[in-house]
Amino acid sequence: MECIYLIGFMGSGKSTIGKLLSRVLDVPFMDTDEYIVEKNQMKINDIFEKEGEIAFRNYESQALKASKSGVISTGGGIVENEDNMKWMKQNGVIVYLQTSFEEISNRLKEDPTRPLWNKRIKERHELFHQRCNMYSKCADYIVTTDKKSVENIVDDIKERIYE
Ligand code: S3P
Repeated sequence: MECIYLIGFMGSGKSTIGKLLSRVLDVPFMDTDEYIVEKNQMKINDIFEKEGEIAFRNYESQALKASKSGVISTGGGIVENEDNMKWMKQNGVIVYLQTSFEEISNRLKEDPTRPLWNKRIKERHELFHQRCNMYSKCADYIVTTDKKSVENIVDDIKERIYE
């Protein structure tokens, strides 16, 4: 089976939705952030602080390539690397979980565990707009998530992929 890659901004629900989707489809699940934390025995914040974002991005590409089947929930910055996008295109379908900035702000609030969210509002906005263009360009399917339950979103993904 081809992989199903979930992409989208921080707080768009990739991990929660990916876990349920994999259960419903009865396929393996992998989360690139969880893989990195486990492999390095370090929190993401600490990797950013001690080794820098470039090192994190390298770990992220390695994590992506370690996943061979099933549902893969990616980190919000997976699209920063052209090679990652090519890899996902070649190995499966890419679903963009599209969430508004307002909804994301409500969900994340002042979440201190995400170094690129832990910034001033102007920077959060800029990153959001820049990333949304990248997600849209890269995606095979776009599924909106605002005001929907996890179950509804999983149904929408299944419908879109298998319609
Ligand atoms: C990041 C998103 C995070 C995590 C890291 C960097 C980003 O994952 O990979 O903090 O660059 O957008 P989530 O999208 O799961 O929050």
